[in-house]
Amino acid sequence: MRTQVCVIGAGPAGLTLAHLLHRQGIECVVIEAQSQAHIESRVRAGVLEQPTVDLLTEIGLADRLRREGMLHHGINLRFDGATHRIDFAELTGGQAITVYAQQELVKDLIASLAPPILFEVDSVRVDDTRVSFVHEGVERTVDCDFVAGCDGFHGVSRASIPTGALSAYERVYPCAWLGILARTKPAAEELIYARHPDGFALHSMRGPTVTRQYLQVPPDTSLTDWPDDRIWAALSRRLGEPGLEQGEIFDRGVTALRSFVVEPMRHGSLFLVGDSAHIVPATGAKGLNLAVADAVALSYGLGAHYAGTPDELAKYSARCLRRVWQVQHFSWWMTALLHNLTGTDAFDERLRHAELDRVVAAPSAARNLAENYVGLPFAVGW
Ligand code: FAD
Ligand code: DHB
Repeated sequence: MRTQVCVIGAGPAGLTLAHLLHRQGIECVVIEAQSQAHIESRVRAGVLEQPTVDLLTEIGLADRLRREGMLHHGINLRFDGATHRIDFAELTGGQAITVYAQQELVKDLIASLAPPILFEVDSVRVDDTRVSFVHEGVERTVDCDFVAGCDGFHGVSRASIPTGALSAYERVYPCAWLGILARTKPAAEELIYARHPDGFALHSMRGPTVTRQYLQVPPDTSLTDWPDDRIWAALSRRLGEPGLEQGEIFDRGVTALRSFVVEPMRHGSLFLVGDSAHIVPATGAKGLNLAVADAVALSYGLGAHYAGTPDELAKYSARCLRRVWQVQHFSWWMTALLHNLTGTDAFDERLRHAELDRVVAAPSAARNLAENYVGLPFAVGW
């Protein structure tokens, strides 16, 4: 098979890119290792930034998320027994976030995608501009001009780049998140980020009857050590929320917290997009949004390339990395601000407390949080 761009991976990065390429008349094929049912039910992110929603609206893909997603104009920070609302609308000139499950966005992106997606591909290999794989038991190859490696942190794209061609920058945090989905009514209208001596907790939601909640846990945590009673007791203590309801927990998982970036985000004709190039700790709710921002930058570069302006494509990596490092900084900062990290002492603890105090007391500090949380612009030029 011959196409212009072979997109590896049908997550938010790959699917957004395929839509944006198609809109510019650029041919592509998407190949995905998992089944459609699997990726449409994989529980992950839930927060869409303003620029992500604006983009999806502009390309006509936001009808359901605007109907069913929850528009939030702020978040609550809770520590020392007090709650402080960060008012995004007031601090950012009316911007907001939308709470909408990643798997629902993936469904929407797949349902309206014109380019073909081949699901359940196996043994994927990238050799320059040839991608080979097995699909339905048959060996297939795609010859293309460019390969978009949108296959996440554990994919083949980054792994197919020779050692030494990329530099990796990494921080692994001494904690993880235990995340649950529960059939309970949200205890608040907006998210609650709680700092507590026992560790961080987050109260989020997926609708009027489903909550998504997270607890800071040690990195080697086994779910068998966390029966429902223990999860509810920890959420209740750390959130300090009198309205917290208990109910059926119908999904649970443990996710490591990690910061990771490779540079550059390109090797020859292979471009790394989204989690294949970088991971952020979940505290800032940024991973999905960063994946979409990369897809925007790559579609812009490829559009310019096919229109006869190749210089724009050459800027892809530098352009993405500038935003990536802003988002890395914000995610690292939010993580350090709200978690109990081992290896820190009473002095660090007081510094962190001073910082939190400033965020809730000084509008300039609150604005910095709000601007980053609602999302930095996708400005291709900066
Ligand atoms: P992925 O979504 O990982 O997609 C990669 C795709 O490639 C997958 O479908 C995979 O099956 C496929 N693939 C892998 N290997 C191959 C191969 N060899 N061949 C073909 N296909 C392959 N981000 C936010 O912005 N906000 C949040 O609130 C948030 N919360 C999160 C909470 C949790 C618990 C977790 C785990 C993550 C969260 N994230 C959040 C991060 C977010 O989910 C990811 O950053 C996002 O999925 C990245 O999108 P992507 O398309 O780059 O990669
Ligand atoms: C959610 C996930 C996050 O990582 C976060 O910071 C806020 C909310 C969520 O899944 O709803």
